[in-house]
Amino acid sequence: MSLDRTEIEAATQPLNRARSMPAGFYTDPAIFAAERERVFLKHWFFLTRAEELQNPGDFRAFDSPGGPIVLIRGNDGQLRCFANYCRHRGSILLEGSGNVGGRITCPYHAWSYLNDGRLYGCPDMKDAEGFDKVENGLVALDLDQWEGFVFARFTKDGPTLLEHLGDFPARMASHKLGDMRCTWRITLDVACNWKLILENAVETYHTGIVHKNTVGAQQSRSPQTQGNWICIQVISGRSIATLTDEVPPFDPIMGLDENARQGTYFTVVMPTVQFAVAQDCLWWLNTIPVSENRTLLEVGGCFPESRLPLADFDWRAAPYYDRWERVAREDMGILEKQQRALGSALYRPGPLSWRDDMVQAMGVWVMDRLGL
Ligand code: FES
Ligand SMILES: [Fe+2]
Repeated sequence: MSLDRTEIEAATQPLNRARSMPAGFYTDPAIFAAERERVFLKHWFFLTRAEELQNPGDFRAFDSPGGPIVLIRGNDGQLRCFANYCRHRGSILLEGSGNVGGRITCPYHAWSYLNDGRLYGCPDMKDAEGFDKVENGLVALDLDQWEGFVFARFTKDGPTLLEHLGDFPARMASHKLGDMRCTWRITLDVACNWKLILENAVETYHTGIVHKNTVGAQQSRSPQTQGNWICIQVISGRSIATLTDEVPPFDPIMGLDENARQGTYFTVVMPTVQFAVAQDCLWWLNTIPVSENRTLLEVGGCFPESRLPLADFDWRAAPYYDRWERVAREDMGILEKQQRALGSALYRPGPLSWRDDMVQAMGVWVMDRLGL
């Protein structure tokens, strides 16, 4: 890896003396390759909410830095995550989302698998020496859930999901996130490094400029966190998940603690997802790194389950969806400009503001994992 030692040291100074990360941190394919090995393939990453796959056979395929994977619910009710390839010669098994019933059939030579991953049918394999069906089931990833948020991991080693999350669950306890239900999501294809998206998502320095016609200027504070997450809280006594000045269409969650009532938490659960937790809802920015300069961004939104039966639910929810998409697109516009600038032969890291504290924290967490 080719980052300049002096630039790395400048990026990790105390904030009032620090500079931004070296350009190569965002543009060098060798850094991206190192992130794949040491960040993406080593840590829990968010997939979706469990209620998105309610019935046996429900599945959803995902791209990931470790290749195509698929989440599927078995006849035993368990969710599992597998590498999405056939054990014969490797075709992708499932695309998109839906229900496969009890069996997954490979589109190439029709090997079939049960919805718990066991190999079921494999025509014309009688002569294959030493071939054992039991050893040729789908290859499983580690899977864990917290309050209905489903995470997977490419390695079996390392801390449990709860250990990884540190005090995040305790700090979000009064939002009762287990009651959340995903009602909306979109995916954007963004020409920038994944870290730029998440750094942008934990600073309010830009909001009065980039979002002057939507959310506008904001003030935030940076609560201390323990574990693999960082946070800013944007101060507002009412939800900022819609753009109108009127009272938000959904009531606040009952029983929010004193801190939670004071504003929206914009968190990053390392390495790749933001959960924005407001007084009345939650939305996420889930980054799927594709290359050093391309990222798929899923924006998803949830409301407490008790809101879903409201006759006018869709009408009330529409302004939230509108805000989430418009603001995300405004951010993507500026981040693509930033990515292009980072490619300049004359780029030199610039000085940070006190308002860039969590930008620096994000970069330092990744730097530490890369051993830089
Ligand atoms: S690749 Fe799946 S059956 Fe041949
Ligand atoms: Fe923004």
